[in-house]
Amino acid sequence: MLDINFGEFPNILTERLQLRQLKSEDAEALFPLRKDPVVMKYIARPLTKEIEEVHKLIDVINQRYYSNEGITWAITLVDNPTLIGTIGFWRIESENHRAEIGYLLDPAFHGKGIMHEAMKVVLDYGFSTLKLHSVEANIDKDNEASMKLVERCGFVKEAHFKENYYFEGQFLDSVIYSLLTPLRNIL
Ligand SMILES: CC(C)(COP(=O)(O)OP(=O)(O)OC[C@H]1O[C@@H](n2cnc3c(N)ncnc32)[C@H](O)[C@@H]1OP(=O)(O)O)[C@@H](O)C(=O)NCCC(=O)NCCS
Repeated sequence: MLDINFGEFPNILTERLQLRQLKSEDAEALFPLRKDPVVMKYIARPLTKEIEEVHKLIDVINQRYYSNEGITWAITLVDNPTLIGTIGFWRIESENHRAEIGYLLDPAFHGKGIMHEAMKVVLDYGFSTLKLHSVEANIDKDNEASMKLVERCGFVKEAHFKENYYFEGQFLDSVIYSLLTPLRNIL
């Protein structure tokens, strides 16, 4: 069993981005994203209707961090503290040393390699600090941007489950990508 202990929140700085803990004030910027049908098109979660739901989501995210069950970062530009996206290991299977990665980005910033930049450092944290053995991405079969993104980070497509997920009256396919630790040879 992997012993997950995040300790002090791991803020991460990259060339263009700052990854930090979500705070209640981020609801203002996250609400428009969680209610945007374009952003949420391939994320099987109901669109949020009230900002209060986003406050609750941020609370849940932070509770999961404090209880070492999952970790999600707010993504901001280095010179502007406003949230433009999120990325994190929402679900961690300690017994399998495995985590599922999830992410979303404001469409105004799509196609600039922003999520690629964020994902590289989050994966490095997952493998080097948390000592994960593998990371999974569960992607809608039509989400080309997300599949290209994970492939560029080295993920391999391992499964395509047909109509295995029921959401809002439809049975959706799930494409499972996985990345094994680059440190596996020394574990
Ligand atoms: C998936 C997402 C995070 C990608 O973020 P991004 O910062 O635009 O990604 P990047 O700029 O790093 O580009 C990743 C790749 O996808 C490609 N891409 C970007 N938008 C695309 C689109 N709409 N259609 C097809 N490919 C696209 C890029 O060209 C790039 O490919 P390349 O490496 O071959 O050039 C973003 O599209 C998003 O937030 N989507 C909505 C939420 C979502 O679907 N989350 C994932 C759930 S699994």
